[in-house]
Amino acid sequence: MPDADLYELAERYRSEFPIFRSAVYLNSCSLGALSDRARRGLQEYADLWSRWGASAWYDYWLEVADAVRASYARIIGVKRSEAALAPSISGALASVCSAIDFSKRTRVVTTDLDFPTLVYHFLAKRADGVETVVLSSPDGISVPLEAFTEAVDERTAVIATSHVYFTTGAIQDIAALSRLAHENGALLLIDAYQSIGQVPVDARAAGIDILLSGGLKWLLGGTGLAYAYVRGELLERLEPTVVSWFGVEDQFDFDPRRLRLRGDARRFELGTPAVPTLYTARAGLELIEEIGVERIRTRVASLTEDLRDRALAHGLRVRGAGERERRSGIVMVEHRDPAAAVKRLRDAGVIVDHRPGAVRMSPHFYNTTEDSAAAIEAMAV
Ligand SMILES: Cc1ncc(COP(=O)(O)O)c(C=O)c1O
Repeated sequence: MPDADLYELAERYRSEFPIFRSAVYLNSCSLGALSDRARRGLQEYADLWSRWGASAWYDYWLEVADAVRASYARIIGVKRSEAALAPSISGALASVCSAIDFSKRTRVVTTDLDFPTLVYHFLAKRADGVETVVLSSPDGISVPLEAFTEAVDERTAVIATSHVYFTTGAIQDIAALSRLAHENGALLLIDAYQSIGQVPVDARAAGIDILLSGGLKWLLGGTGLAYAYVRGELLERLEPTVVSWFGVEDQFDFDPRRLRLRGDARRFELGTPAVPTLYTARAGLELIEEIGVERIRTRVASLTEDLRDRALAHGLRVRGAGERERRSGIVMVEHRDPAAAVKRLRDAGVIVDHRPGAVRMSPHFYNTTEDSAAAIEAMAV
């Protein structure tokens, strides 16, 4: 699709996001903007709660949960039976990783660029004999595949790392990681929180075993809902020990004497989901499916390059992957005091975020080059 068409598309959808009437919003990698349809979803939830009370579960809410699983599964190219809801990435890790046997293979290979909750999960298993190898990034931007290759061997149970690194936006080659994991008899667990919704992912084709993501960033779904994909072929042998009544067959039989885990990925679900978020998540997923992640990627890539070029033209330093195709919609503009810069920008009506040493800007499909110009000009003064 030519750039001009994509621009029109962004303009059309932008009017669905009221934040743009009062601010320049460039922070989707922290929290996707609220759409009118998500707000209507919240209203619908409240109306149903008010009208039907608990009956709404059977007549509406369980169906919405199903629709959300199905939409998410389509977006990442997997079967609906391979997708589960989770309260957060941290919760999904607790449940899914409770099913991994670390008794023979005791190692997990991860990196110092991964989101801490991922690494903490395995560090906390030290008492159970799990050894977490945290690879160091040589340049603070990404970790070369060779570093993984050196570290992964027959002692490795899992490679656990991100698709897109949250502090640099660098995209990892997940298909290559999958080959490496499988050649060594290990599992590949991908934290795709910063990629799903902005970078196309076909989890099956990439050979990923476990993929975790959440709804509040690029999927525009609001807080309180995450997703777990577990490759169908693994489901039978991955029996969680962190379980809930949402993960069993015949949930509404309420039989405490018998634990019969579901055969699908929902065996990893942990209790009552956040229903208001199911409504906002459904609206966000609908937008993403309507536009299509391929188109979003093209649009975001062009905004990312524009944002970088503007920053460089103003004499600012940008941290990120060298090759263009390894860059995603996270632009790190270096700054001595990023927290103060973010506050100053907010006072000027520009909402961005900070991470150590840099201001983090993240354009989504609804942004424009005018947003980038406003942000960089405000930053450069
Ligand atoms: C890549 C990545 N993983 C995990 C998380 C945190 O996940 P949760 O709070 O759902 O446990 C974040 C949050 O910002 C993130 O960016």
